[in-house]
Amino acid sequence: MLVHLSELIKDAKKKNYALGAFNIENLETTIGVVRAAVKMKSPVILQVSETSIQYAGLKAITSIVQAIAAVEAGDIPVSLHLDHGKSFRSVAECVRAGFSSIMMDASDMPFTENIILTKQAVDFAHRKGVFAQGELGIVKGLEEVSPEERKKMMTNAEEAEEFVSKAGVDTLAVAVGNVHGIIKMQKGNPGLDLKRLESIHKIIPDTPLVLHGASGMSGQQIKDGIKYGITIINTDTELRLAFTQTLRHTLENNPDIYDPREVMTPSIEAIQKVTEEKMEFLGSAGMVK
Ligand code: G3H
Ligand code: 13P
Ligand code: ZN
Repeated sequence: MLVHLSELIKDAKKKNYALGAFNIENLETTIGVVRAAVKMKSPVILQVSETSIQYAGLKAITSIVQAIAAVEAGDIPVSLHLDHGKSFRSVAECVRAGFSSIMMDASDMPFTENIILTKQAVDFAHRKGVFAQGELGIVKGLEEVSPEERKKMMTNAEEAEEFVSKAGVDTLAVAVGNVHGIIKMQKGNPGLDLKRLESIHKIIPDTPLVLHGASGMSGQQIKDGIKYGITIINTDTELRLAFTQTLRHTLENNPDIYDPREVMTPSIEAIQKVTEEKMEFLGSAGMVK
């Protein structure tokens, strides 16, 4: 069933586990993630990026999530989130479409502009009862910046406190060494700055922190993150790899099949498997009684 993100956060905080936020872009990826949630008895956040909205259409992707949450998920709580909203317009569209949470990502703007842009989105979302995530510090891909530049882009604890109080966000995405995209899985994951994370959590203990770029992180890294206030963990690339590698394998090994359902089913199962593993690491598995 589709629920508001606030319900999921409340339970995760109470029981001390993290929620998985998984990027989906179509019917197949949605089914894969939701089947994992059902099998693992885990709450789940389904999130769509602006790119996925362009690909599938907002109405279509929203309807897919609503239908799958109502039918396949049964009693398992599912929430729908906008990932990395870059404009007020896309935030507003997702709020109107029925998302229970949005992200306004103005993290590449200077501090004051980030606060102004985020607050504008937060105020709009809150008027409609929708939760809002902001980002402070910048989570880049490994290929985009040097290690020295990355350090400068990390979240500063005092600024985080000011950002949360001025922008009014419900959750905060932090940059603590986490990296977006596939390249960290090829070149090695730089690891988390746990001291920094701890100092952020100490200064804003009531703000659930969001860890982007979780693909390729070890179970231990994830557990360490949760210890210091991470409540939501975003995974995209690992799902994409599972889907696509399986699709390639299916087609190469079955040159005669042409029914899209036969082509896609192993990829849906691959998404489900990766999601189930993540839910174990997060501690969200078994949390729906
Ligand atoms: O963190 C970003 C997500 O992986 C979304 O990426 O814009 O290619 O859908 P995308
Ligand atoms: P990865 O693709 O690195 O898992 O990051 C996902 C993410 O942060 C989505 O917002
Ligand atoms: Zn992200």
